[in-house]
Amino acid sequence: MLSNLVYRSRARVDLTPDDLVHIERSARERNEDLGVTGVLLFDGSYFCQFLEGPEAVVRDVYALVRNSRLHHRVVTLLEDYAPRRRFADWGMRLLNVRASPQEQIVSALHGVLTPGTNLPRDDRAFRLIRAFAAGRWRDHAMDGDDPARWTFRADPASAIQAPPPLDSDACKFALQPIVDTAAGRISSLEALMRSPTGGSPQSCFEALSPEQYHLFDLEAKSHAFTLVERMGGIGNSKLSINLLPMSLVRVPDAVDYLLEQIARHGLTPERVILEITEEEAISHFDLFQTALKQLRAHGVSLAIDDFGAGFAGLSLLSRFQPDKLKIDRQIVQGIHADGPRQAIVRAIISCCSALGITIVAEGVETPEEWSWLQAAGIDLFQGFLFARPMLNGIPAVNWPVPVAETR
Ligand SMILES: Cc1cc2nc3c(=O)[nH]c(=O)nc-3n(C[C@H](O)[C@H](O)[C@H](O)COP(=O)(O)O)c2cc1C
Repeated sequence: MLSNLVYRSRARVDLTPDDLVHIERSARERNEDLGVTGVLLFDGSYFCQFLEGPEAVVRDVYALVRNSRLHHRVVTLLEDYAPRRRFADWGMRLLNVRASPQEQIVSALHGVLTPGTNLPRDDRAFRLIRAFAAGRWRDHAMDGDDPARWTFRADPASAIQAPPPLDSDACKFALQPIVDTAAGRISSLEALMRSPTGGSPQSCFEALSPEQYHLFDLEAKSHAFTLVERMGGIGNSKLSINLLPMSLVRVPDAVDYLLEQIARHGLTPERVILEITEEEAISHFDLFQTALKQLRAHGVSLAIDDFGAGFAGLSLLSRFQPDKLKIDRQIVQGIHADGPRQAIVRAIISCCSALGITIVAEGVETPEEWSWLQAAGIDLFQGFLFARPMLNGIPAVNWPVPVAETR
């Protein structure tokens, strides 16, 4: 299959005109040998390249390109397939966007197209290349902070373990911090359900009938509140608990039960965040909304969990606006190098800032992901980079420390 790919990257500051000549020449030679064609645009600081050829070969060439020391911050913008080549005659053609007016670049691009090619106006690859030539891409793009400036350190003594739980517990909880890295504080602790042996909570649910399912989901929260009580509280942090939306609809007096349990274990509603995951479609939305209103009226904060995965998307957000929105790990993974994910997260940030909603990025695992997300304007993070969930306790947090301060 004929595949094509567009990426953007940032040239190293010390890139010389000779380097540009070298890149074009060596790229053209290798590409011609391998059957890859394309164009490379350079605007004085950034590259934008279009590569096309057999899928496996394009993948190999792209891997090689990414490793070049002449550029960095490589972000994939498009991966697609096409019936024919767009630049069939060019192993690689370098166009210096900075040196020429935009119309000249566009006509130069048309000039290197495969003869007879009539690209439709809505051709995505061509639109991306043209936007780069016109400098318009800068409105949609952003480089993260340099992750090499940071190292991550934890103080093991800051972990807190609760006394062992009672054997009769039907389930256990692990706590995972959600951190504000700029302020250096734990914003909240998410209580994650575990089986009585500390494993996946799936086994707790498997044996249940559909009628018992939501009751168990609701009543399990009392064990999370008990854990917090046994630890003697959680300082100034809030406690996040997960609830299936239909547990609020199907279980009679679910809100009263939650409020009563919160009070019984020495917490206040203002200290609790209810994370709603729309794993299942919400029927009786009016009942669901009534329950949310009651919770809000008592001071419980609401969050949409796993935003962008499954049903938890724009439709839910259009019907109910939470205090917090947690961007799903699938969107966060590899975001520093992924153009579509960056565009989606920037749109979510813009939407949430218009609505006053605080964003949490879930599943942050690498310094590169964190530094891109915080440069984009996100303050709250959750993920293995900072801390794994800890059974019956609060783990120590790996806080980012500027490398300069550690010397
Ligand atoms: C912006 C850019 C585009 C490149 N495009 C190609 C290409 O299309 N095909 C290819 O084989 N190599 C390509 N390369 C790799 C170079 O041809 C060359 O092998 C590489 O820069 C040498 O690696 P080094 O700079 O780390 O020594 C590209 C490199 C850069 C920086």
